[in-house]
Parts: sequence; structure tokens; C-alpha cells
Amino acid sequence: MDRLFLLLIVVIPYVVCDNINIKTYYETDLDTSNFFHDHKNLTYLCDKLGEFYEEKNDQFTLPKCIRFKSTQILYCHGEMINFRNYTNKPKLERIEHLVICYHNTSTFDLSLLKYFKKVRNLHIGYSSFNRFLGKFPRLEQLTFINITRSELFSLKSDVFSDLPAIEKIDLRYNQLHIIEKPSFDSAREQVKVKLFGNLWNCSQAKVIKWIAGNDPKVDVEDKKSLNCSDAKFRARPLFTVMSYKIALAKVCKEDLKDIRNCSCHISYLRYEEESHDFKPVISVNCSHKGFFNFPGRLPEYTNSLYFDRNNITSLDALCFKNSTYNDVHDIYLDYNQIRDVSVLDNCQWFENFRVLNLKGNLLERIPVFAFINSFEKSHHATKLYLSENNWICSCRYMPRLLKLCQKYDIIIDKRKLLCHNDRNDPELNGRLIMELTKSDVCKAHNLILNTYEIMSIIFSILIVLILVNLLFDYYRYKKSGKLPWIVLHTPLF
Ligand SMILES: *[C@@H]1O[C@H](CO)[C@@H](O)[C@H](O)[C@H]1NC(C)=O
Ligand SMILES: *[C@@H]1O[C@H](CO)[C@@H](O)[C@H](O)[C@H]1NC(C)=O
Ligand SMILES: *[C@@H]1O[C@H](CO)[C@@H](O)[C@H](O)[C@H]1NC(C)=O
Ligand SMILES: *[C@@H]1O[C@H](CO)[C@@H](O)[C@H](O)[C@H]1NC(C)=O
Ligand SMILES: *[C@@H]1O[C@H](CO)[C@@H](O)[C@H](O)[C@H]1NC(C)=O
Ligand SMILES: *[C@@H]1O[C@H](CO)[C@@H](O)[C@H](O)[C@H]1NC(C)=O
Ligand SMILES: *[C@@H]1O[C@H](CO)[C@@H](O)[C@H](O)[C@H]1NC(C)=O
Ligand SMILES: *[C@@H]1O[C@H](CO)[C@@H](O)[C@H](O)[C@H]1NC(C)=O
Ligand SMILES: *[C@@H]1O[C@H](CO)[C@@H](O)[C@H](O)[C@H]1NC(C)=O
Ligand SMILES: *[C@@H]1O[C@H](CO)[C@@H](O)[C@H](O)[C@H]1NC(C)=O
Repeated sequence: MDRLFLLLIVVIPYVVCDNINIKTYYETDLDTSNFFHDHKNLTYLCDKLGEFYEEKNDQFTLPKCIRFKSTQILYCHGEMINFRNYTNKPKLERIEHLVICYHNTSTFDLSLLKYFKKVRNLHIGYSSFNRFLGKFPRLEQLTFINITRSELFSLKSDVFSDLPAIEKIDLRYNQLHIIEKPSFDSAREQVKVKLFGNLWNCSQAKVIKWIAGNDPKVDVEDKKSLNCSDAKFRARPLFTVMSYKIALAKVCKEDLKDIRNCSCHISYLRYEEESHDFKPVISVNCSHKGFFNFPGRLPEYTNSLYFDRNNITSLDALCFKNSTYNDVHDIYLDYNQIRDVSVLDNCQWFENFRVLNLKGNLLERIPVFAFINSFEKSHHATKLYLSENNWICSCRYMPRLLKLCQKYDIIIDKRKLLCHNDRNDPELNGRLIMELTKSDVCKAHNLILNTYEIMSIIFSILIVLILVNLLFDYYRYKKSGKLPWIVLHTPLF
């Protein structure tokens, strides 16, 4: 009996109106009667309806949309049509459940939904559009939105702002990189959102950090299971990344007053074996902010400090016992006013550093031995910059610096080191240290000899004199038989 009835419906021809038509079916045609009510089982909605559609399409030429009468479901297959010229608009207004699958254009024009005044459930899936045109029109009853398995790339904050009844939005399995915090005009206390299976770009924290927050209006139900997909934070949990970023912004801009003018960034998250947890690696940028001293404290996990173009004169703060700088392995101090780095001799920090940039300071000399010591002991040191300083090229000091440069490639700019100092021989100023030899510096100077050298010369002269005297005495003895005076008057002989 039932079957006969169904057969009848299927055979009834549909009405064509203005090129736009809708064919009506009874839900029982689709042999899963609980299909639309069982939320857990909607996974293959597009597949199921698509199969059904294709099957019927073999028998008739179906319009793009077909209606399941008893439940007021409209299924649209392929590109959504504009119902502008559809004459039976009241029919659209009765639709409660709109399902759109395989909408394969690059955009989806949301204004097409304006005819569905009573729609409660909207399902869009298996489509290839990557953005919406416009925002949702005002739909008083729209409660559930499900846009999954499409290629949505980003979402603006006001798309959902005109939906007073909205309760749940499922946006899983799209290609979302960013999503602005949605604004809702909903009377509901909280709108529930699902975002799993997207390609979050955690480098755009400004736009997406709301996901990790506890907003009274939006609850991202699956926020703890989201992972980042951008190059910097790939496979890192979004929740952890955003939590660290939010905490860092607070520490950097509010808690630590010294560095308020600096900017802080998370460079990446590293996995820590002991705690089985991700820890941030932080870099602090205080470039060109007029600092005369190092900040007293830096955020925990700071690894790099950019402190170039300030007015620092000494490195003492780096070498205090258990200073905040102990784990800051990369420090950029180019273009400051540092004259003296003798504190690096016997400095714990200097034994663990990775990068130290001292380019463009006022250094005349460095404790070469301390540098050799650090390079030999440390397995981390990778870069040291020393160019554009006031290097003294004296016969005594310059050869040591030269040796250091020749031996260690850690000094990245060693081929740019110049002699540059008022105390240098003017001929040497402007010459590259790596192109000088010891004899260049030592010859250029008037011989300045130290005490040992002077004594040696005196002794050599005396020895020569004694030998000459000996020869003379021998010659005289042979010639005249006279013994030297000293022999005659010394009782020993
Ligand atoms: C989902 O629907 C299929 C039939 O399409 C059914 O076999 C299965 O039991 C359903 N699953 C649940 C969880 O209801
Ligand atoms: C949205 O649809 C997908 C299938 O396309 C389904 O898995 C999911 O459960 C639906 N979400 C909600 C909130 O009903
Ligand atoms: C729809 O109606 C407008 C005028 O209201 C007309 O210009 C347009 O060609 C019609 N479109 C179709 C597809 O019939
Ligand atoms: C739309 O694209 C999907 C894949 O994104 C494809 O499986 C489907 O056949 C396409 N449908 C139409 C009607 O072009
Ligand atoms: C993520 O955002 C950053 C910063 O805007 C951008 O440079 C990068 O290309 C983005 N990555 C992806 C995969 O979109
Ligand atoms: C997210 O990342 C974590 C840690 O990198 C990994 O264990 C987990 O499997 C990832 N989850 C997904 C869904 O990719
Ligand atoms: C930050 O910069 C402002 C303006 O450049 C300056 O007045 C202020 O003293 C600076 N604060 C600190 C802590 O250096
Ligand atoms: C540090 O910040 C300055 C602007 O204050 C910027 O010009 C510079 O590129 C930043 N340095 C790094 C390494 O990010
Ligand atoms: C501080 O450093 C800036 C830039 O390096 C420089 O222009 C300025 O003259 C310095 N100020 C003092 C007081 O040394
Ligand atoms: C030095 O370390 C000790 C323990 O490791 C700590 O109690 C103390 O506060 C630290 N001092 C400074 C100045 O950070």
C-alpha cells in the first residue's frame, strides 16, 4: 500500500515555474527515516542525499533542488540557485531544514539564503567554495549551522551577527586559517562552536587568540584538540600556543615595567622531554629604545634579546650570579657605547652564549684569552660580531687579536675588522686587521723594547767586548811577553 503511494508520488510530474523548480519527495523515500533527526549520524549527509539524488536523476531530469515534504527539508545539489524569479516563494518560506551539497564555485553568496525565512537547520557540505560573499541575512529561526567538509579559508566577525536564534555552529573540516571572533546578536547565553580539522595559522595570533579565551558569548567546544598548521607552529596545540602568547603579552606589557617599550615574541615551541610538555622559546626586541641599562628582568623562557642601537656601556649585568640573562643565549648589542668587556673574563654567561653582536661599539681591545677560553669550552658559540670598533693596532696587542681571528670562524665579520684608534700609527688606521702581519705593526712603530730585550742586547755587547779583550791580550803576550795587568795583580794566578 505504502509502496504504491510512493510510486504514485514519484511518477507525478513536477511543475515548472520560471525555469526554477523544486521536485517534492516524501522523506520515506530515503530509507533512513531518522536520517535528519539523529545528529550523530549526519556524517554522510551529502553522500547519502547525493546518492539518492543521482539515483532519481537516472529516472528523471531532476531540478537542482528537491524537497522532502513531511519534514520541510530542501536538498540542493550543486551550485545553489537564485530563487529571485521563483514565483512560489511561500513554499521556500516553509522550509525548515536546508541542505546544500557540492556547491562547487569559489564563493558562496549568503544573500541567497534570504528566501528561507523559517529555516532552523542549515547544512552546507562537500563544497569547494572558499569564502562567503556578504553575511547571513536576518533569519529569525536559524539555530544550527553546519558548514563542514568545504574549503572555507577565513571568516569575518560579522557573518553570523544577524541570527538571533543561533545556538550551534559547526565549522569542522574546512581550510580555515583564521577566524575573527564572531559577534552574535543572539539571545542565547553562549553560542557553541566547533572548529576541529582546519588549518590554523597560529602566527596570526591577533585574529585567532580569542579561541583559547573564556568568552561568555562564544564557546569553542573542541578548542583543546585544535593544532596549528603554519610553518612556525606546525603540529603544536593551538590552545597551548595561544595561552603562552596571551600570558607573554601580559608579562611584557604590564608586569615587567622595564621592558614596556620592547616587543616580545614566541619564536617557536619546543618539546620538553622531562615534563612531556611544550615550552616557548621567547625573543625580546628592545632595539633603538634609548636604554642606558639592561632591564632587571626578562620574561621566563627568553632566549634572544635584541638590544641594538641603545646606549649600553657595560656588560656587567650579563655576568651577575644567577642573573635573568643566564639562559638568554643570543644577545644583539650592535651600535651601543660599550668600551670595555673585561667582565667577560670569568663570566658564566659567556661560557654558554650562542650569539653575541658587539658590532659598532667603542671597543679598543678585548680580553683575548677569555674569548679563546669560551670558544674552546662552549659547544654553543656560533656567532660573534666585532667589526666597527676602535681597535688598537699596537705591536703588543694586535698580533693576539689577529691570532684569535685567524683561528676562529665564530667571529663572523673578522674580515671587516679595521685598525681605528687615535693611538694607532696613522698609517695603520683604516687597514684590515686580517690583512696585516705582526711585522707590519711592529715595524711601523719605533722600536720600543722591553727590559729583557734591553738587558739581552747589553749582555751580548759585553760578551763581544770580553772576547775582543781576550784576543788582544793573547796577541800582546805572544808579541811582547807581557801578561795582562789583571793577571799580574790577582793573587790567584
Ligand atoms: C548511522 O546510519 C547508518 C545507516 O546509514 C546506520 O547503519 C548506523 O547504525 C547509524 N549510526 C548511528 C550511530 O546511529
Ligand atoms: C555537521 O555535519 C557533519 C557531517 O557533515 C556531522 O558530522 C556533524 O555532527 C554535524 N554537526 C552538528 C553540530 O550537528
Ligand atoms: C529574473 O527576473 C529579472 C527581472 O526581474 C530578469 O531580468 C531576469 O532575466 C530573470 N532571470 C531569469 C533567470 O529568468
Ligand atoms: C563537487 O566537488 C566535489 C569535490 O569537491 C566532487 O566530488 C563533486 O563531484 C563535485 N560535484 C559537482 C556537481 O561538480
Ligand atoms: C601565516 O601568517 C603569517 C603572518 O601573517 C604569514 O606570513 C604566513 O604566510 C601564514 N601562513 C600560512 C600557511 O598561511
Ligand atoms: C596535534 O598535535 C599533537 C602534538 O603535536 C599530536 O599528538 C596530535 O596527534 C595532533 N592532533 C591532530 C588531530 O593532528
Ligand atoms: C618608553 O618610551 C617612552 C617614549 O619613547 C619614554 O618616555 C619612556 O620613558 C620609555 N619607558 C621606559 C620604561 O623606558
Ligand atoms: C625589532 O623591532 C624593530 C622595531 O622596533 C624592528 O625594526 C626590527 O626589525 C626588530 N628586530 C627583529 C629582529 O625582529
Ligand atoms: C644613545 O644612542 C643613540 C642611538 O644609538 C644616539 O643617537 C644617542 O646620541 C645616544 N645618547 C647618548 C646620551 O649617548
Ligand atoms: C638566585 O637563585 C636563588 C635560588 O636558585 C633564588 O632564591 C634567588 O632569588 C636568585 N636571586 C636572584 C637575584 O634572582
